[in-house]
Amino acid sequence: MVIDYNQGHIAEQYQESKTQAWRERIETYSFLKHIGDINGKKVLDVACGEGHFTRLLRRAGAAQAVGLDISERMITLAREQESREPLGIEYIVADARSMVAQQDYDIVVGAWLLVYAQDRAELAQMCRGLACRIKPGGRFVTVNTNPGVYSFRPDYRKYGFEVELADHVFDGAPIDITLNLADSSLEVRNYYLPIEAYASAFRDAGFHDFAVHIPDLEPAPEAGDEGDYWDYLLNNPLLVIMDCIKD
Ligand SMILES: C[S@@+](CC[C@H](N)C(=O)[O-])C[C@H]1O[C@@H](n2cnc3c(N)ncnc32)[C@H](O)[C@@H]1O
Repeated sequence: MVIDYNQGHIAEQYQESKTQAWRERIETYSFLKHIGDINGKKVLDVACGEGHFTRLLRRAGAAQAVGLDISERMITLAREQESREPLGIEYIVADARSMVAQQDYDIVVGAWLLVYAQDRAELAQMCRGLACRIKPGGRFVTVNTNPGVYSFRPDYRKYGFEVELADHVFDGAPIDITLNLADSSLEVRNYYLPIEAYASAFRDAGFHDFAVHIPDLEPAPEAGDEGDYWDYLLNNPLLVIMDCIKD
């Protein structure tokens, strides 16, 4: 069940899912916080989808922002938004696994990219593809499905999504995420690889200081009125942030 973001209304459904509260309060907040100051930086958003993070990074001060995605439909949606509200972002259709002559991006980000690697060989291809796009000393930062879900087998229904796992864990085990939207639902298959596989793939591709960070919750506009609503998701996170530095 490899998801093809060109099919049906998947790209539009994915765009709608970005408005779910957990995505704004935890995913977007934590990712941008870990990316940090990008003022004046040259940024590449790999697996940019319809450009959610590309636009945020450009608005946050990136001197140059380029979005890259393998899905033509996703890039069409991104370009439509660029036409409606020009920010000077370039969007290109390309495969993150492809090798290019060494590029010089200061920061490459890639939210929900590595989860599509079905085995260590494909993960290695992705990491090499990222390495040839980042300048020495530059950073890669990603949001990734937390492989730890296989140890705590979460129930996220109250947040608007569900996770289904195989009976036992193995390299490439499915992590099926169903996003419950207003009038439909979107199923996305991610693949499990242990943290140790990510660490060694990045090391072999020419990165150092690989680290994994647990996400945070953006403070509520009026602190204290949310009770313990978010505690379960924060204690059993669906996502982790990973980052590393190019040698
Ligand atoms: C879950 S979406 C995330 C989109 C965006 N990063 C975001 O967070 O809103 C995953 C995206 O990864 C893209 N993708 C998957 N494999 C890819 C590859 N090998 N190269 C480039 N893009 C890829 C898909 O087309 C899809 O747009």
